[in-house]
Amino acid sequence: MTNVLTNTLAFDFGGTPFGVAPPGVAGHPPKADDGGAPLREGPWGATPAPEPVSAAAPTRPTLEVKGLVITYQNQKTGELTEAVSGVDLTIGHGEFVTVVGLSGCGKTSFLNAVAGLIKPVAGSIAVAGKTVTKPGPDRAVVFQKATLLPWRTVLGNITYGLDLRGVPRKEARLRAEKYVDLVQLRGFEHFYPGALSGGMQQRVNLARALVTDPHLLLLDEPFAALDAITRENMQAELLNIWNLTRKTVLMVTHQIDEAVLLSDRVVVFSGRPGRILAEIRINLPRPRTADAKYCSDFDLLTKKICGIIQHSASKKATWSYEI
Ligand SMILES: Nc1ncnc2c1ncn2[C@@H]1O[C@H](COP(=O)(O)OP(=O)(O)O)[C@@H](O)[C@H]1O
Ligand SMILES: [Mg+2]
Repeated sequence: MTNVLTNTLAFDFGGTPFGVAPPGVAGHPPKADDGGAPLREGPWGATPAPEPVSAAAPTRPTLEVKGLVITYQNQKTGELTEAVSGVDLTIGHGEFVTVVGLSGCGKTSFLNAVAGLIKPVAGSIAVAGKTVTKPGPDRAVVFQKATLLPWRTVLGNITYGLDLRGVPRKEARLRAEKYVDLVQLRGFEHFYPGALSGGMQQRVNLARALVTDPHLLLLDEPFAALDAITRENMQAELLNIWNLTRKTVLMVTHQIDEAVLLSDRVVVFSGRPGRILAEIRINLPRPRTADAKYCSDFDLLTKKICGIIQHSASKKATWSYEI
């Protein structure tokens, strides 16, 4: 059997409101329900107006994150919580990379920083060579819950981001129609969100993110709110969509099998503060279907990743590990 675990790595076991959603954000804004707020320091000064996304394939990596540190400060007590500590991550054009780790290890914080929704205290983030300082049309985010505009139809929701950018109505509609087909909602394009199932709503959300043709698609546990069977269907759909679009994707999930099924590379975070323990290349063949789950390499990969996470949760150690 071919061993698909090919990397040699050093492991350090250590344990909108609707009307005002920033362009590119296709779901909820980040929650700040415990009184905390990210510290406003670091290289985040005045921000230029968003520029239109260029269709040209970038020669630079799509995402370059260096030395990222995210800290929250409780506004009542002043207490600091370090959520992410010194993360370096590069994602190439057309790569699908997933971050996995225990609940509370900083995955969402990391993704929100890349989205420009929170500001890190240290480090830098660049998308296609351009420093991230705020949300922009070069990134689109899909959160766990599809927050669709209830007064707009499926088509109206998909065109929403285009309408905000002043794309002519006819062109926006033509572009949206293509994504209605891609997410298999033909026949439902004139339905309102209230008449759609959770899975269908999340399909609209995905289409709404993709139609803006972002450099980077950011997915935060996009199927976590769905029942098990719908989630599996959506994973198969996302594989198909990726096969057709080859978008650069950064996803976070705590579901290891989902990460292995969908990704080219899985990045394993330590417990909080999140640091990278391992980067594991998923060499399962592409184009991939949900049947990839039934190959022995799939089991090997999921077990290996689970083992790393479990080990990091139980022990603090540093060594080099070959996989
Ligand atoms: N707005 C916030 N204020 C204070 N602490 C927060 C805030 N958001 C997240 N945290 C803390 O940061 C840590 C990482 O959270 P998060 O990024 O949501 O983790 P994950 O997505 O991996 O579950 C957790 O300890 C969480 O309590
Ligand atoms: Mg999260």
